[in-house]
Amino acid sequence: MTDRNGPGAHLLVTGGAGFIGSELVRRLLARRDGTHVTVLDKLTYAGNRANLAAVEADEEQAARFVFVRGDITDREAVAPLVTAADAVINVAAETHVDRSILDPEAFLRTGVIGVHVLLEAVRREQDRARAGERDSSPRFLQVSTDEVYGEIESGRSVETDVLAPRSPYAAAKAAGELLVRAYHVTFDVDAVITRGSNTYGPYQHPEKLIPLFTTNALEGRALPMYGDGMQIRDWLHVSDHAAGIEHVLRHGEAGEAYNVAGGTELPNRDVIARLLAATGRDWSIVRRVPDRPGHDRRYAMDGSKLAALGWRPRMSFDEGLPATVAWYRDHEAWVAGTKSGDWDAYYARQYGDRLAAGQAVDEAG
Ligand code: NAD
Ligand code: DAU
Repeated sequence: MTDRNGPGAHLLVTGGAGFIGSELVRRLLARRDGTHVTVLDKLTYAGNRANLAAVEADEEQAARFVFVRGDITDREAVAPLVTAADAVINVAAETHVDRSILDPEAFLRTGVIGVHVLLEAVRREQDRARAGERDSSPRFLQVSTDEVYGEIESGRSVETDVLAPRSPYAAAKAAGELLVRAYHVTFDVDAVITRGSNTYGPYQHPEKLIPLFTTNALEGRALPMYGDGMQIRDWLHVSDHAAGIEHVLRHGEAGEAYNVAGGTELPNRDVIARLLAATGRDWSIVRRVPDRPGHDRRYAMDGSKLAALGWRPRMSFDEGLPATVAWYRDHEAWVAGTKSGDWDAYYARQYGDRLAAGQAVDEAG
């Protein structure tokens, strides 16, 4: 075993074929500092090997990279990978709030049982370290979300706030976090948690607001805005989110959670206006559709705890959003690949009735 912060460290990244996980893997390997990365990913509809193509096409990076298709709820698959790891970064999850409203079960399986299986494997490695069978215990990092705080009308959530999730997705994420904390308190597992805000950038599945509205606008299709479009999110570029995760892995204190806040709070209508400008469309393609049940009105986090550790977001939304739109414009084949499989059935189920009931919107509302 090696120091997780030292050259030659072996990192296990679960969910590394998804949006944020693949950014993290590309970042870790592109530094060419001898770090080895193993990805364990189930390749659900959201996981995509193509997100790791750049790594696999680079001989030097590919030599330090292993991909394993598997499920974090599978003890037999997980155990040997954790044995070989200096740290485990759990990025794997079911991540789309709307799908958690349609079908919550997979969220609970991955978000609760999966986290438990990983924690048990880490605990066993800790026991082995204490018995002198390995040099040190692996650190466990749980990637979580601002949604665990629930909606916040005013002010900003701080890490000590009570968790008050309001969707099945957010409840599963909060439950996962509580298990992590329990394993730290009860078994002294070396664990840290990150709570990221709404993330955007290349390689994000087009079910989420920014890639859905970008690709629909580029295709000349309707943009389904939920309710009045005045819900507020705090936007964080994926490169900054991955950097925040790595920063907490290396510098976070065991047992602590850290907000990874973008610092760009915007109502959805402002985001839509910017996307229309970047794609050369106008408000005629936007439809006001029936709202998401239990829709959280606003998320906002205080990022000072992680700032005190030395992390700050670097990519402004003014720069990151047009660059993201350009990426989707330039990656038609990638988009077509993600809008395949169950996509049409999902789209009809999620948006069919909504769009039929949709109303025209103008810039003023
Ligand atoms: P994503 O949906 O793009 O990727 C999730 C990945 O996890 C996929 O590759 C999928 O195949 C894999 N996966 C799902 N279930 C699995 C299982 N049981 N075993 C192994 N692999 C499995 O998600 P994302 O947007 O990259 O989010 C990654 C993490 O970051 C999640 O934990 C999410 O809760 C958190 N997060 C996301 C955002 C955001 O805005 N996207 C913000 C804050 C936190
Ligand atoms: O806040 C962090 C969270 O951000 C992550 O934990 C989740 O994994 C991620 O999916 C995201 O959750 P949101 O629900 O905020 O993201 P989404 O892109 O689904 O929606 C963003 C906002 O846009 C939200 O207010 C709902 C609205 N929206 C979304 C879609 C998909 C629409 O108005 N229309 C849509 O079709």
